Amino acid sequence: MAAPSSPAAGIRHVQDLPVEGKRVFVRVDYNVPLEKGTKRVTDDSRITATLPTVRHLIERGARIVLGSHLGRPDGQVKREYSLEPVAARLAHLLGQDVTLADEPVGDGARKVVSDLRDGQIAMLENLRFHPGEEANDEQLCRQLASYCDVYVNDAFGTAHRAHASTAGMVKFVTAKGAGFVMAKEIDFLSRLLGDVDRPYVAVLGGAKVSDKIEVLDALLGRVNAIVIGGAMANTFLEAQGKALGKSKVERDKLAIARNFLRKAAEHRVLVHLPTDVVVATSLDGEGAPPVSVDAIPEEGMALDIGPATIENYRGVLTAARTVFWNGPMGVFEKPAFAAGTVAIARALADNKLALTVVGGGDSAAAIAQAGLADKVSHVSTGGGASLEFVQGIDLPGIAALRP
Ligand code: 3PG
Repeated sequence: MAAPSSPAAGIRHVQDLPVEGKRVFVRVDYNVPLEKGTKRVTDDSRITATLPTVRHLIERGARIVLGSHLGRPDGQVKREYSLEPVAARLAHLLGQDVTLADEPVGDGARKVVSDLRDGQIAMLENLRFHPGEEANDEQLCRQLASYCDVYVNDAFGTAHRAHASTAGMVKFVTAKGAGFVMAKEIDFLSRLLGDVDRPYVAVLGGAKVSDKIEVLDALLGRVNAIVIGGAMANTFLEAQGKALGKSKVERDKLAIARNFLRKAAEHRVLVHLPTDVVVATSLDGEGAPPVSVDAIPEEGMALDIGPATIENYRGVLTAARTVFWNGPMGVFEKPAFAAGTVAIARALADNKLALTVVGGGDSAAAIAQAGLADKVSHVSTGGGASLEFVQGIDLPGIAALRP
C-alpha cells in the first residue's frame, strides 16, 4: 500500500502518551551483530539509538517491557539467538538492571512483567523464538498486548514486517505511539517523499540487482539521477556488453538490468555506472592499478570503483541537493577495496547544502567506519525498512500506529 502524503499524520509521540506507572511495551530493533563464539555485541548502534526512549520512560516512572527479535531462529528456541548479550549491553549502557525473561511469552514472562516496579525494565526473550511472531498470530498478539497498557514502537528497522509485535498486537492496546527513533526516522525519510530540493540523487550499491530492482524502479519516478556501484554495477555493465572477467555478475538478471536502463532513459533519469574499477584475482589480493571497464582482465574481479568513477560520482553528489544512499561501492570491509565507499561517504559529508540520508545496513556501517556519521543529515537504523519507505510503501509497523 502507498504511504499517505504525510506518513506521521496522527501518530502520537511517546512524550505525549500517559505512561506514568503504566506497563509500556516498547518494540525495539535489537537485531544487532554478535561476534561468533564470544557473543559480544560488535555494533551496538541500534541499542544506543533507543536510549532516549528508554531513559524518557524511566524518568516518567513507566514499567518498561522491551520486545525484540534477533536473527532468524524460525519460530524455534535456539540459544545462539538469545537476547542475553543484548540485555547485558543495555544494562551496562543505562547503568541499571534489565531483567531478561527466559521466554517471549508464558508464565515466566508474565511473572517478570508483573514484578516490574516504576522505572524498572524487563526484556522478553527473542520474540522470533515463538512461531506466532512472524505469522502475526492473533493469540500471540493478545498475549503480548496483555503485558502492557501502552504500546510504543521504536523499531524502525523492523517496521516493514507485519509481525505480531510490530503490527498485530497494536490493535489490542488502547494507547499507542512512536518512540524517539521511530519519530525521527519518519521525519527524515518522509522528506524524501515530498517536494525535494533538486537534483535528487540516489546512490545504490551492494551485491545484487535482485535486492534493489524494486527500489530502482520506484525511484525512477522520483529522482533525477541514480549512481550505481558495488557488485550490482557489474550486472549493468555486462548488460551493456562489457566483459567482466571473473567478477560477480547475476547472469539471470541481465534482461532486467537492460530493461531498467531503457526505462530510466524514458524517464530522463541519468544512470551513472562505473567507468573504471579496482580489480584483483582474490578478495585477499591487493588492489591492482585501476582499469577501464573496457579492459577488465579475464582472471580479474571488479571489487571497487576506480578513481575516475569516484571523481565523476563526487561531482554528481556535490551538485545534488537531496541524496539517498544505500549500499557500498565495493568490498569495503577490506581496506584495499574500501576507497570508493569511503569517497561516497565523504562526498555526502562535504555537501552541506543537501539533505543527505543514509539507508542502514552496510552503508551505515561504512559511514560510521569512516567517522562521518554525524556529518550527514540522517543515518537510518533500518536497511530493508528504509528502502521500502523511500519507495513510498506504507510500512505495517508505521501504519499500525495511526489512529
Ligand atoms: C533488519 O535487520 O533489517 C531488521 O531487524 C529486520 O530483520 P529481518 O530482515 O530478519 O526481518
